[in-house]
Amino acid sequence: MKRDFLHITDFTADEIHETFVLAKEVKARFKGREDYKPFKDHTMAMVFAKPSARTRISFETGFFRMGGHALYLSPSDISIGEREAVKDIARVIARYNDVIMARLFSHNQVMEMAKYSTVPVINALTDYNHPCQIMADMFTILEHRGHLEDLKVVYVGDGNNIVHSWLRLAERLPFHFVCACPDGYQPDTDTFAAAKQAGISEVEVSHNPKEAVKNADIVYTDVWASMGQKSESEQRKTRFRGFQVNDELMAATGKNSLFMHCLPAERGVETTDSVIESKASIVFDEAENRMHVQNAILLKICGKV
Ligand code: CP
Ligand code: NVA
Repeated sequence: MKRDFLHITDFTADEIHETFVLAKEVKARFKGREDYKPFKDHTMAMVFAKPSARTRISFETGFFRMGGHALYLSPSDISIGEREAVKDIARVIARYNDVIMARLFSHNQVMEMAKYSTVPVINALTDYNHPCQIMADMFTILEHRGHLEDLKVVYVGDGNNIVHSWLRLAERLPFHFVCACPDGYQPDTDTFAAAKQAGISEVEVSHNPKEAVKNADIVYTDVWASMGQKSESEQRKTRFRGFQVNDELMAATGKNSLFMHCLPAERGVETTDSVIESKASIVFDEAENRMHVQNAILLKICGKV
């Protein structure tokens, strides 16, 4: 049975912990410039329908350094769902490659791709979620704190794909997660309900960012208008007033909280220069860890460990 990684809930809690252990090991090998080539003579197709910096660079670099070759397929190369059916291109790519990474608009398309591909498919962001990002985020938190006990993560901003992956993680690992968003920008109802029902974590939605961030270990934000919503940018700036993560909001935690952002950031909009540049900010560790955690995910779903 081939394995895909489309949602964090595709992994059990044990597998998530194993991924973190493996990511730490692979990171040390990379830092030590060890000759480590588990993907020698393997190829990975990277299908992009949306722009990317971190995702492309981290997957391509990581796979190359593990001995493989990654192919970047730009939005115009495949024109997913337009030039030909997803179920056709999925089967074609799987005939040439050992693994597929896909960043698409439609979550249904990535599900369809996984259904028809005979090789593992990794979701590298859809309109619905971004599982590799949040796996890397939790690994980064673990590195900084040394443990995951008594963790409060407060996300301030739009209840978007990033939040859905945080909620999926909350179905597996125990922590306190609060999404502070304007009314009307809550995360998907079913995803929130599933996280609550799992009974593993405490999950909440708040419309009061100052109140929500109290005692937060992590304050996390993301753009107010995601890819595909950029025409709403101006209108959202009005709706999200009061939800900017600035020095004042960081001080409202009443704690030495850490600041995280998946990036790219719109400085001066959802957060400020001073917060990104502050001592609390771990955004570049977070970005680096995308590569190490994705490498671990690849090793796991491709049966290399
Ligand atoms: N965080 C993230 O996925 O960044 P990119 O959109 O640049 O890949
Ligand atoms: N929510 C953002 C995340 C980018 C990594 C987007 O989908 O554009």
